[in-house]
Amino acid sequence: MAPKRPRKILVTSALPYANAPLHLGHMLEQVQADIWVRFQKSRGHDCLYVCADDAHGTAIMLAAEKQGITPEQHIERIHRDHKRDSDRFLIDFANFHSTHSPENRAWSEEIYRRLKANKHIASRAITQAFDPEKQLFLADRFIKGSCPRCKTPDQYGDNCEACGATYTPADLIDPVSAISGATPVEKESVHFFFKLPEFETMLRQWLDSDTLQPQVANKLREWTEAGLQEWDISRDAPYFGFEIPDEPGKYFYVWLDAPIGYIASFQNYCERTGHPFEPYWQPGGDTELYHFIGKDIINFHGLFWPAMLQSAGLRTPTAIFVHGFLTVNGTKMSKSRGTFINAGTYLEHLDAEYLRYYFAAKLSGSVDDIDLNLEDFVQRVNSDVVGKIVNIASRCAGFLARGFDNRLAGECAEPALLADFIARGDAIAQLYEEREFNKAMREVVALADQANQYIDEKKPWVLAKQAGSESEVHAVCSVGINLFRVLMTYLKPVLPAMATKAESFLACALDWTELENVLVDHQLGTFEPLLTRIDSKQVDAMVEASKQATVAARAAPVAVGQADKAETIAFEDFARVDLRIAEIVAAELVEGADKLLRLTLSLGDSEKQVLAGIRSAYEPGELVGKLTVMVANLAPRKMRFGVSEGMVLAAGPGGKELFLLEPHAGARAGMQVK
Ligand code: MSP
Ligand code: ZN
Repeated sequence: MAPKRPRKILVTSALPYANAPLHLGHMLEQVQADIWVRFQKSRGHDCLYVCADDAHGTAIMLAAEKQGITPEQHIERIHRDHKRDSDRFLIDFANFHSTHSPENRAWSEEIYRRLKANKHIASRAITQAFDPEKQLFLADRFIKGSCPRCKTPDQYGDNCEACGATYTPADLIDPVSAISGATPVEKESVHFFFKLPEFETMLRQWLDSDTLQPQVANKLREWTEAGLQEWDISRDAPYFGFEIPDEPGKYFYVWLDAPIGYIASFQNYCERTGHPFEPYWQPGGDTELYHFIGKDIINFHGLFWPAMLQSAGLRTPTAIFVHGFLTVNGTKMSKSRGTFINAGTYLEHLDAEYLRYYFAAKLSGSVDDIDLNLEDFVQRVNSDVVGKIVNIASRCAGFLARGFDNRLAGECAEPALLADFIARGDAIAQLYEEREFNKAMREVVALADQANQYIDEKKPWVLAKQAGSESEVHAVCSVGINLFRVLMTYLKPVLPAMATKAESFLACALDWTELENVLVDHQLGTFEPLLTRIDSKQVDAMVEASKQATVAARAAPVAVGQADKAETIAFEDFARVDLRIAEIVAAELVEGADKLLRLTLSLGDSEKQVLAGIRSAYEPGELVGKLTVMVANLAPRKMRFGVSEGMVLAAGPGGKELFLLEPHAGARAGMQVK
């Protein structure tokens, strides 16, 4: 049964930055959008899902530079990887495009021209930090220095990780460019601004119009009430992006052309397929537009974007669907714990559908964070999907194959039970529509319990052994298969690959529109295993691999300012290291060890024995009287050649070049190194 009037729906999810692989947080968003899209299609609606890579900006330019390739080559590689990961997670994109595309350039220029014609663009000179070596303006996160409050070194941008102070980067002590190390200078340049305050009335109406979740509308209202600011939409060369028309050397800020990428991706799709384009972006039509995004980017989608669209004479979104953040085992994804899991790493160890189901079982229409608890994940998928849902089919399939040639009974023995399962579809559909996937999954699992209970009561395995009960076995198993068919129809948006296998076994389409077609006197295909249990060892291996991926990533270039926090140590960690000047008072060869020397170090009031691997650079005799920096509070370590009570620090590449400190008048043994 096709719906009376198919809806025309366009769906997007946020465009991932083209600077790193997709991780499970990105997948949470894409899976959420994909389930919703597949649900709409199953209901007979015309629903298209487009996305793209967000390919512009300084970070991407620098990432390419570090690898010695052009930004175009860099975003090409990332695009391929992103697309592959999304495909393998069964994300049903109509198009996965790029913001660095001709369509996006054309639309960005067009929208800018309309904004400008409407006098919604201002320009004025502003003063910013500038890297004189790199000849580059520095965004806050590319400036580092010591915290003005607690003096912790290497703090990026406008807040201190150690003490939590917030300030402007100009307040940093000895600020340097994180890119070149040069001291930034102040420099003036002309910027272009989008006059957001002119949209105050429009935005207030938009925030009150029920298009946003209440928590999101409240947050945005706080910002509007604090006073809307003009939004800086330009950046100076060098910048990887689109040059602003008639403004040589000025580029659109990445966040200006990123959402326009939604339009561009859809246009690219329409041009390739002949699908209508205009009705989706004109105001007042009967098409629907939804953006799935995370809670960190609601200002761009909930304020700037609708205002821009309005000024450009384009439609505003029907709704913005905001989700919370993914945590793993109750905390922020962490590289050192192996819970910062890339989509590709997950897929090397586990089936995408396990996670699709788990996400569905946790996702709701709210902006609450979602926790992937790895133990619960294994348990929940094994118990619900394999133990309950797949089980219905596998319990019945064997009897039907052996005794009945895979043909279902000529009439349904439990019409009321089946009608009840089908009738629940409306409520489940409503839950999908509202993105209350967790509640929908609960309903489906409750029905699966009911189906299993029915089979348990009828005991076909007992009947099969009794002469004259063949037709009852046939009837029970045929009912079981029909119940399974209904449940798989409900689950198809979540488990599309499993549904495809089930479709070939059931020899029918599992669409919501087919729900009422009960299978009687129907020839089945052959049953094949649908999904196997997760072994928790697979999860352990994935966590281990994620830890190793971090080690590999540390050796690889990282975009400045995107540096992983796990690569740094906290100030407290550093503060625990007791560094002191030590004087070498004796040095001797260690028998049997050709790389080591045994040093006796004086700390002024005490002495320590240290085994140091500096033999390649020094003869014992040259060392007496030299100074070194030592880690004085290192726990003693028993080595093959004796106990070592600390560690000496030397500079240099190794071999013959390892440098200690020359004696200096001011440096005395025992002095603390700061
Ligand atoms: N490029 C911008 C979006 C531009 S949209 C016009 C961006 N990219 S992102 O790669 O950082 O994030 C893409 C999406 O993934 C965002 O919606 C973001 O909220 C989401 N997530 C990133 N990390 C996440 C989690 N840990 N959990 C859930 N979603 C998260 O922002
Ligand atoms: Zn501080």
